[in-house]
Amino acid sequence: NKRRPLVAGNWKMNGSVELAKQMIDTLDSSNIQNVDVLVCPPFPFLSEFNGFSGSVGAQNLSEFNAGAHTGEVSATMLKSLKCDFVLVGHSERRTDNGESDALVAKKVSVALEQGLTPILCVGEPEAVRESGEFFNHIQAQIDAVVDQIGIAKFDNIVVAYEPVWAIGTGKTASPLQAQQVHEFIRQYLAELDAEVAQGLRILYGGSVKAANANELFSQPDVDGGLIGGASLEPQEFLNICLAAK
Ligand code: G3H
Repeated sequence: NKRRPLVAGNWKMNGSVELAKQMIDTLDSSNIQNVDVLVCPPFPFLSEFNGFSGSVGAQNLSEFNAGAHTGEVSATMLKSLKCDFVLVGHSERRTDNGESDALVAKKVSVALEQGLTPILCVGEPEAVRESGEFFNHIQAQIDAVVDQIGIAKFDNIVVAYEPVWAIGTGKTASPLQAQQVHEFIRQYLAELDAEVAQGLRILYGGSVKAANANELFSQPDVDGGLIGGASLEPQEFLNICLAAK
């Protein structure tokens, strides 16, 4: 397959200016080839990544472009800080901030309008996995976005599959479980547009570390990873990036 792997680090509400400097040093001094590397630190550290050899992205954006929305950050502001990517609909935002499928779809649309590449996060909670209904759950999350932007614009987005039960738990999905869902997503979208589906990068997230990255990334429909905890350790994150090529 010709999809170029992408490894994204989501710092969540962690890190510091110091960690930003260490991360840039470690990643810039290594020779990572044929892999796109992305760091998504909290908003206050975005500008530290000016001049970084990889890409920088935000963890969230407002659905509004400007105005009286205290505490929010717009897509245009992120662009001005040289962000190329933005995470949208991470499960922690869906849970902690009540972000609905419809709001997530709106945010994907706003990000695209401003020239950011949204990384649409989908995935089922543990109870849904156990009920066996996870394909329906993920399909509904994706349908909301397809309805909002249309299939053609999936050309400019990335999807991240993160089973909620695997996030921060140390309990990663098996490579087979990940592949099964990634393949489902690709085939589902292929019914709408085979070419777009073929080119879509689908990342896996949930307790990825250097020790398990290779096996996950070798699955045919796994095009890289969205890394939480392990993206806070520069050497470990670098090793995960290297495992993706
Ligand atoms: O965005 C990243 C994911 O939520 C994965 O987090 O690697 O700490 O499990 P984790």
